[in-house]
Amino acid sequence: MPKLVLAYSGGLDTTTAIKWLSIEKGYEVIALNIDVGMSREQPVVESRGMAAGALKVRVIDAREDFIRYFAFPALAAGAVYQDAYPLATALARPLMAKLLVDVAHEEGATAVAHGCTGKGNDQVRFDIGIKTLDPGLEIIAPTREYAMARDYQIEYLSQHGVDIPWAAKGPYSIDENLWGRSCEAGVLEDPWQEPPPDAYEWTRSAEDAPSAPAYIEVRFEQGMPVAIDGEGLSPLEITERLNTLAGLHGVGRIDHIEDRLVGIKSREIYESPAAVTLLAAHKALESMTLTKQQLRLKRDISREYAELIYNGLWFSAHHQDIVAYMASTQRFVSGTVRVKLHRGSATVVGRRADTSLYDRGLATYDRGDTYDQNAAVGFITIWGLQSRVQARQQVLPGLRESLKIAMPREEER
Ligand code: ARG
Repeated sequence: MPKLVLAYSGGLDTTTAIKWLSIEKGYEVIALNIDVGMSREQPVVESRGMAAGALKVRVIDAREDFIRYFAFPALAAGAVYQDAYPLATALARPLMAKLLVDVAHEEGATAVAHGCTGKGNDQVRFDIGIKTLDPGLEIIAPTREYAMARDYQIEYLSQHGVDIPWAAKGPYSIDENLWGRSCEAGVLEDPWQEPPPDAYEWTRSAEDAPSAPAYIEVRFEQGMPVAIDGEGLSPLEITERLNTLAGLHGVGRIDHIEDRLVGIKSREIYESPAAVTLLAAHKALESMTLTKQQLRLKRDISREYAELIYNGLWFSAHHQDIVAYMASTQRFVSGTVRVKLHRGSATVVGRRADTSLYDRGLATYDRGDTYDQNAAVGFITIWGLQSRVQARQQVLPGLRESLKIAMPREEER
């Protein structure tokens, strides 16, 4: 029998897929569980996969790689989709695609499979990632192909002798990894409805958060977080610690109407306590270390980068180009940022950089001013040169009219 590697979460969809791929498609199924953190199914992955008839279940702990090579580079680049979504799911998919292809090669498999539906972005990220890395692998997406209802899946498994006690389905569709949790469907599909308390799992509401704030100091080196409160920590430890602490203070809730690549607008509830806190801190450090031209261009490229990640183009030369630019921008982004976590917000209240562009002597209104105020006069003369010439030639003759355009109500009176 030909072999296939399935991206296996341990949930009902992919457990059904194991059975279906062997019965209907004639594959020996290797169930590959990729641990990117926070999955509730983790403890039962092996037993469920074997019960469903997998040839074997392999678990890869990809948490450290995920944060180090996917989440933190996206953080340093400031990649946030539509100014709202820190891209947790989108960042994990290319890593999963890579591991699926690697394991397929190790196991001598001719096909890979994933549990994505035909309505989302994840199918795009998997399919493009896999086909980029190995165009010869066949891709099967059982859920996209058969779209079986939940009770039918349970019945299908049972018919084939797989009786697993499935908990009643929660009202939402959830995806989780260390960079964030996404929650969609159910009552959330009504964009007018406030998300009910049970849509959130990682964060307290602002009302229930502690009344006393917490202060943390995050140290960055070349754009990467390396320590909290002076304690050197691994990327994974930093992320876990901040998910817990910032979550406790209600930080990281995002309610977003999102534009999927496949054209659908969808209502997404995200919780990303660590990502939201780190993004705010990192941005604050850049404001100390980059010039305004650097900040401006980087913001534009960040946007492009977020689109690229969201739209599944991780394994591309365009990505390599952007990474090279981003790495260069981070050379001097080293320093410490103090963040106050309180009742739903992460507010930067202090920042200090190793090679800061902030010069107190230049900024001060107190004694010790090193800025030459008289030099401002010459600067303004030159800076306003074109504006003055233009005013004389073009603007002043038509001023009455342009005032009318600018202030029609004034003129009407
Ligand atoms: N809308 C987000 C994205 O496209 C989250 C998707 C969550 N995926 C899921 N299978 N529930 O990245």
